[in-house]
Amino acid sequence: MSVLTIQPAFNDQMAEVNHYPVMHRQILESLDLQNRKVVVDCTVGAGALAQKVLSQMSPEALFVGMDKDEDTFELVRKRLGKAEERIQLFKADFTDLDKVLEDLDIKEVDTFIFDLGISTPQLSNPERGFSFLKDGPLDMRMDKNAFVSAYDLVNNLSERELANIFRKFGEERHYRKVANFLVRARKNKPIATTAELTNIITDAIGTRYRDLKIHPATRVFQSLRIAVNRELTALEEGLKKAIPFLSAGARIAVISFHSLEDRIVKHTFRDYAQEDILKIITKKPLLPDDEEIRENPASRSAKLRIAEKI
Ligand SMILES: C[S@@+](CC[C@H](N)C(=O)[O-])C[C@H]1O[C@@H](n2cnc3c(N)ncnc32)[C@H](O)[C@@H]1O
Repeated sequence: MSVLTIQPAFNDQMAEVNHYPVMHRQILESLDLQNRKVVVDCTVGAGALAQKVLSQMSPEALFVGMDKDEDTFELVRKRLGKAEERIQLFKADFTDLDKVLEDLDIKEVDTFIFDLGISTPQLSNPERGFSFLKDGPLDMRMDKNAFVSAYDLVNNLSERELANIFRKFGEERHYRKVANFLVRARKNKPIATTAELTNIITDAIGTRYRDLKIHPATRVFQSLRIAVNRELTALEEGLKKAIPFLSAGARIAVISFHSLEDRIVKHTFRDYAQEDILKIITKKPLLPDDEEIRENPASRSAKLRIAEKI
């Protein structure tokens, strides 16, 4: 059975601390950043990793950061330095990275970084609706302008469609039961908040999870977040857009947090390696070391894969 490692950032305590750049030591060691001219961080988030990356880059090199959520951009600008021309920030989905790079007239990139999932500021703000530990509107959109939220899915999809999401994107064993409880609950009134959703999930499966370490709502929340943000198709598309921009010897690094994402990264790298376009640098994914897991438990399910353009 493929076990889905749950994003451990669903932990109240972690959500309160400053974003700790997961696996940054391995990123800095593997990307030879001192010698790169154009580095693109496709998921700049709170800018913590970007700050480390920039500290290694030459002052002449260009850093392009993008994120589909611009809520953290003020923080990122403070972190990275406001007026520096060599730092370009864009509110963009990484599936549009080709357009961003074309706008900047960039034809070749030396380094791409994808640090997937959600950031601590997103998780810890109840208004964003990502956490079952904080009550808020059932939203979960990374891009606040996106058309579909978790509220729309939970209240409009059929029982079968919901069950499919919970099974496919959450690998939730009790997918049918949760979908059934949800559809019955929404007959009375729409399910509008994360607390309402959490209570319904707990009613449906709560006691079966008594012996497990994860909260019963973990998998369902993750599956809805993936569905709302089309995370898996976006990842596939983003990687396929990025690879053609890599110059010879350039590297692409992806940090993923669960097996569904990691599988996409592994298979994409393998497919391009079979065509002699990429060389796989990490035959097995790199993992956070014990020290990092101790310092930052949220890193424990991270996997880093790196490939190099031939
Ligand atoms: C784990 S956080 C990145 C944290 C960041 N590296 C840091 O050190 O602060 C992931 C970020 O990716 C963004 N994201 C996820 N999918 C995206 C996509 N398809 N396009 C652009 N940004 C995306 C999220 O909005 C979030 O800010």
